Amino acid sequence: MTVLVTGGAGYIGSHTLVCLLDLGYEVVVYDNLVNSSVKALRRVEEITGKNLEFVEGDVTDSGALDDLFAKYSIDAVIHFAALKAVGESSQLPLQYYETNVYGSLCLLNAMKKAGVNHFVYSSSATVYGEVNPSPYVETMELGSPSSPYGASKVMVERILADAVRVNPKFRAISLRYFNPIGAHPSGLIGEDPLGVPNNLLPFITQVAVGVRGNLSVFGGDYPTADGTCVRDYLHVMDLAEGHVAAIDWLAEQSNFNGVEAFNLGTGTGVSVLEIIASFEAATCQKINFEIVERRAGDLPAFWANAEKADKVLNWQAKRSLSEMMEDAWRWQSKNPNGFS
Ligand SMILES: NC(=O)c1ccc[n+]([C@@H]2O[C@H](COP(=O)([O-])OP(=O)(O)OC[C@H]3O[C@@H](n4cnc5c(N)ncnc54)[C@H](O)[C@@H]3O)[C@@H](O)[C@H]2O)c1
Repeated sequence: MTVLVTGGAGYIGSHTLVCLLDLGYEVVVYDNLVNSSVKALRRVEEITGKNLEFVEGDVTDSGALDDLFAKYSIDAVIHFAALKAVGESSQLPLQYYETNVYGSLCLLNAMKKAGVNHFVYSSSATVYGEVNPSPYVETMELGSPSSPYGASKVMVERILADAVRVNPKFRAISLRYFNPIGAHPSGLIGEDPLGVPNNLLPFITQVAVGVRGNLSVFGGDYPTADGTCVRDYLHVMDLAEGHVAAIDWLAEQSNFNGVEAFNLGTGTGVSVLEIIASFEAATCQKINFEIVERRAGDLPAFWANAEKADKVLNWQAKRSLSEMMEDAWRWQSKNPNGFS
């Protein structure tokens, strides 16, 4: 089976490529490298001992997408390509909607023309918005996320619901990720944010490796056990395996026409202070931090109900918090400046 992976050079995409190649899938990566490096793809080849096809291009370029589907015989698509910084999306809303929504439309149209009918979409826990209580369950109504980033994920989920309705052969899965962290255990690939990291763990590892001075913990007065924000952190390799489970499930359904959403998380909430303590315990590195004002837009706490993915896809997040920390640290300490 040949899988087109948009955004495959990025953090989650590159880890998913490892799983796909290890299991014998052929992969074609399509990425404009705006937030990634072609070195990640070479490292994926090094880890797996397999070759992949790479086409540099933009998901908003319909002509290039048509050429791509004409050149390769694609069976299924995993669509990671997107802009993902929640805060930045409020500064650059049009750019975010263009890449995340219009780019998805261009891809879906190109798939339709080429007769490719299996689609796995990178959605996010942000689609539950600000009012749903945790744990989040897939049966909840989609919320109204305040950021253009979150809104773009809701919009594409709605577009998929309409697209499957009018094409009886089309089937899709929206994977709603919680908080992926960690890295491939080889230390060859990992998260490599451009500039100041928006996410907690890359910030912690950059402090530990000496690239940043100290960590600001945003808010110590939330209504949580220790006052800091609580999230559902899962190992990026577990998340990557969820994509293979999704691709396989779509291929196995004989008469399925529709879109299914699945939460990919551990089902457990962990606070910022617990993450710091866990990182220090797993790596023997000391993290200097201070608790500062809350950051606009952060919710106090959310985590997944991951029972549907377990029951339907036979997928579970298996790796421990200390594995997440050890693997993230191996990546950062071997590559203090990421891929550059
Ligand atoms: N990392 C997270 O915490 C998280 C959580 C929930 C959902 N997601 C979603 O998962 C997906 C992958 O996230 P990630 O963390 O790997 O991000 P990433 O930035 O590392 O990867 C995204 C990839 O898409 C590429 N890309 C961006 N715009 C493109 C365009 N116009 N054309 C072609 N390629 C383009 C980038 O170069 C990059 O390689 C995104 O859709 C993101 O919104 C991520």
